Amino acid sequence: MNVYDSHRIAGILENRGMKEVARIDDADLVIFNTCHIREKAAEKLFSDLGRADLVKQARFLERKDTIIGVVGCVVQAEDEQVFRRSGAVDFALGPLAYHRLGKVLDDLLKNRDSLIIDTEFPPESKFDYLGANKAEGVCSYIAIQEGCDNFCTYCVVPYTRGVETSRPIDDVVKEARKLVADGALELNLLGQNVNSYHGEDNNGKERNLAYLLRELSEIDGLKRLRYTTSYPADVDDDLIACHRDLDILMPYLHLPIQSGSDKILKAMNRRHTKGQYMEVVEKLYKANPRIGFASDFIVGFPGEDDKDFQATLDVVDEVKFITAFSFKYSPRPGTPAAEYPNQISDKVKRERLKILQEKLFAYQTDFNRQTIGKTVPVLLENKGRHAGQLTGRTPWMQNLYVCADGGYLNKIVDVKVESATMNSLSGKIIGK
Ligand code: 5AD
Ligand code: SF4
Repeated sequence: MNVYDSHRIAGILENRGMKEVARIDDADLVIFNTCHIREKAAEKLFSDLGRADLVKQARFLERKDTIIGVVGCVVQAEDEQVFRRSGAVDFALGPLAYHRLGKVLDDLLKNRDSLIIDTEFPPESKFDYLGANKAEGVCSYIAIQEGCDNFCTYCVVPYTRGVETSRPIDDVVKEARKLVADGALELNLLGQNVNSYHGEDNNGKERNLAYLLRELSEIDGLKRLRYTTSYPADVDDDLIACHRDLDILMPYLHLPIQSGSDKILKAMNRRHTKGQYMEVVEKLYKANPRIGFASDFIVGFPGEDDKDFQATLDVVDEVKFITAFSFKYSPRPGTPAAEYPNQISDKVKRERLKILQEKLFAYQTDFNRQTIGKTVPVLLENKGRHAGQLTGRTPWMQNLYVCADGGYLNKIVDVKVESATMNSLSGKIIGK
């Protein structure tokens, strides 16, 4: 979502006639888009700001002005602390307020000594003010839903991105058509809790994600659809049917379980048990046996004992996730779990993460190796690191390299896979 937001912010600036520069030393305006999900992500901002401050001072000596802004969830959470922690910052905008950036810059240019902060949850939707989204390439994101009402006890999202809201069907379809007209072949629908999407249609009737997917699947020229991230308890039968019916919907689903222990899931305030998660997985497999599952995991949540951790390892063996993101629990200020008494030591968290990741990486490598000898469709979206090389994604989000000339760029080609590692595949193009 932050990549998408940054792209939209860049769009606002381009519309003002600004241009991207390669080096921070040449930038009149520097904006940091920030994440507050774990402590490490949030702290990174302040070390980056330290470096930006040095650039700002050096430019000042050359009589060049530098405006530095911070946007995103750290602003929402830390509010004016951002100014206190770094004297370099001129303005700060929360993730729901960045459509006001143009006005903020105008105000700042009128009064260069002011500090501007906006952490309001605005009554208007930023999407009504952002103008048209431009395709980033053949794979584009569209935010369709934002915020979350789930209040998992470890998570800052409901506080930083606010209550759950969905963009109207028509707005999303229009944005999608525009992106496809601009050259997008693949669209990835974004939301913190994307499958509880409930946007209104033109008659004011609320529609679910399955309805939206079916609408989008009709767009001429669109080849691939994805959505991320889903909440297990909100996967309905309608959505499962889409995985059976819509060829355009890629057979890959990021469906975080977080833990395999019902005790921990309850303490996390997740609205599902391990059993309910497995039921959803089985139904989806039945609908489309080619589907691969990805997940998120948190280890060392308060109260997690060896048995709970073992239950997490067991669920990995059962589902055999094709890829996963795994994290040590990070206590976040203002969330209930940060106050729980039975916190786990960093040493235990580290050990558990290592054990879990070894298992996850082994399944990921296995999955990639199983592709060897098979022919898979790949959307070649980038030049590789070496000359004559292109890279793209398989339907399962695997990174794949081929030797091919630029003429194949931005096309979906059939590739016979020849080798595989944990992180990538390589192969030969055998047809378009
Ligand atoms: N500590 C560690 N991981 C977290 N996540 C969310 N909050 C925390 C936290 N406090 C992880 C979850 C979520 C992903 C986006 O980040 O696994 O699915
Ligand atoms: Fe955070 Fe996801 Fe839970 Fe919402 S569902 S509170 S975004 S972890």
